[in-house]
Amino acid sequence: MEAEVFSALIGGRKLYVWGSGHFGTSIYYAMARIGIDVSGFVDTNKAGHEFLGFNVMKPDDILAQGKDNIFIIISAFFTDEISKICEANGFCHSNDYLTHADINPYYFEVDVAGCCNLRCITCPRGNSPAGPEVGMMSFASYEKVLDKLLREVPLLSDIQFYSWGEPLLNPKLPQMISHTVSKGIAAAVSSNLSLKCSLETVVKASPTWFRVSLSGADDDTYSVIHRLGDLSLVIENLRQLSVLRAKFAPEMFVEVNYHLYKHNLGGVANMAKLCKDLGFVFRTNYAYTDPLDAIIDYAGGIPLPPKMEEGRQYLLLGIDEAIELSQQSGLHDCVSENRFVIHSDLSLRRCTHLYNNKSSILAENFLEIPLDEIFFRANNCEVCRICRRHGVHRFHFAYADKGIEVGSEL
Ligand SMILES: C[S@@+](CC[C@H](N)C(=O)[O-])C[C@H]1O[C@@H](n2cnc3c(N)ncnc32)[C@H](O)[C@@H]1O
Ligand code: SF4
Ligand code: SF4
Repeated sequence: MEAEVFSALIGGRKLYVWGSGHFGTSIYYAMARIGIDVSGFVDTNKAGHEFLGFNVMKPDDILAQGKDNIFIIISAFFTDEISKICEANGFCHSNDYLTHADINPYYFEVDVAGCCNLRCITCPRGNSPAGPEVGMMSFASYEKVLDKLLREVPLLSDIQFYSWGEPLLNPKLPQMISHTVSKGIAAAVSSNLSLKCSLETVVKASPTWFRVSLSGADDDTYSVIHRLGDLSLVIENLRQLSVLRAKFAPEMFVEVNYHLYKHNLGGVANMAKLCKDLGFVFRTNYAYTDPLDAIIDYAGGIPLPPKMEEGRQYLLLGIDEAIELSQQSGLHDCVSENRFVIHSDLSLRRCTHLYNNKSSILAENFLEIPLDEIFFRANNCEVCRICRRHGVHRFHFAYADKGIEVGSEL
């Protein structure tokens, strides 16, 4: 969508963003870039919290003002459900509200570090035969990637600096973040924080959104999944992150993402408490296991790799059940429909959940292939046909649909 068209559509109405997470932030940034003011945020779970300097509103308070006064952008995970609420309140899609995907239909993960210091057994870095170890993206390459994206996706709202790697391993990350933010684009980082690094330079670059991923509140529990990880180091880094944020980047949104497994539920309250003390948002989610390559094979009768087999025993929602839910669900389409990965060697992967599958590489060099051609190749990708034939293209939604109920109230 072009900026002028969008501006005309809103008219004189106040613009509210429904969703106070990373998607909400990124739309806020995209709007600022084209000179449109956001009047506030709406969120069922986070009403009353402060977010980007706004007091998050309850949906009812906004909806009650009516479609003649309010325009809504839905930038939250449960778009279909929220759309229904808007419709029930007289808001019409395209006239009175849009979804995040209407504004920015494509999403790119830029895997600036093609390697990781850990070997989590529910991640392909820890459970699959060696995959793409493609080193670090240079700043010069990143600049070209961003230029191309901005030319081809005018309302690009954010860049995610990770896929199957640990972004803080790339020494050029701070420079990439600063460059991105200076162009009015949200910058998202997710890290295991189980490493010694110059956290200060990363924080000074002011990423918009900083996620820390972990799977336990004590050493023994944490290291069941986060192999090679050191929880004491993570906690030391979390404390430092809190101090650095206060000093250099008070606007930076920090969330700690606690992956829920059978063996780590007992640590939720302790970690939630620590996050509260440090001023971070604490979120939980049902852990799944990647990569999708192995799930596709498994659905076709091929056994899982041994480490993945080991990891599955800890999942709260079993793989077989998740596959069944994926096959039966009509609720969602493919989990990576419009999502792509740009590797650090500039090759382009079709799907954010595939790891080793060579046929999912749509281009050896993203910079050389126009977006239209990329979509053409994506629509004709052989591995997608196999994935859909086995009905596992919604596998990850089975976990997301479980929500964030454990701990979200803490
Ligand atoms: C593969 S990680 C790469 C970034 C970084 N190394 C990290 O772990 O945060 C990308 C995202 O996947 C999430 N993730 C990793 N393993 C997961 C699992 N088993 N279940 C759910 N989410 C997971 C992490 O929280 C992270 O935000
Ligand atoms: S989940 Fe993140 S930290 Fe764990 S192995 Fe994968 S990339 Fe590394
Ligand atoms: S169809 Fe399957 S492999 Fe293709 S993008 Fe969707 S989830 Fe990924």
